[in-house]
Amino acid sequence: MLPEELQERLQQKIAAAPRPRELAIDVMFAVQTHYGFLSDAALVEAAVMLGMTPLELEELATFYDFLYRQPVGRFVIHVCDGVVCWMFHEGSVFDYLCQKLGVCAGQTTADGVFTVLPTACVGFCDHAPAMLVNGVPYGPLTPESIDRILEKLRTEYCDLVVCR
Ligand code: FES
Repeated sequence: MLPEELQERLQQKIAAAPRPRELAIDVMFAVQTHYGFLSDAALVEAAVMLGMTPLELEELATFYDFLYRQPVGRFVIHVCDGVVCWMFHEGSVFDYLCQKLGVCAGQTTADGVFTVLPTACVGFCDHAPAMLVNGVPYGPLTPESIDRILEKLRTEYCDLVVCR
């Protein structure tokens, strides 16, 4: 169950909207932020608040790259798979990242730290090739910069979670 305070806040926003379904993405984001991903139960909670069916939300959630229907790692890496980024790199940034982390597209590393997802465009085209990590943009990427970023994130993860 969502905390009462969050439920109330979302219900107030929904009540103020001309059509509750306009807030479907916002509500799913808020629910996802609380749980870490949108489980079936979380999707039902969101659907009840919005007065929509779980299937209607499922259709949106599976269309939108930034809503996660499965558990994700501490860092979710959206690697741009868009045209501009493809024009601005030699070889595949995506392949390099997956190889480096030992995962395929859509997978999470065995230690649960990284999830790698291809995304059509991450809105950072002027820094192509680019990626977002938990919403923070990085680019232009090279194998060397990817190594540095992953190292920094691993250190950050260790400081936050493991080594305390
Ligand atoms: S095409 Fe890669 S950020 Fe836009």
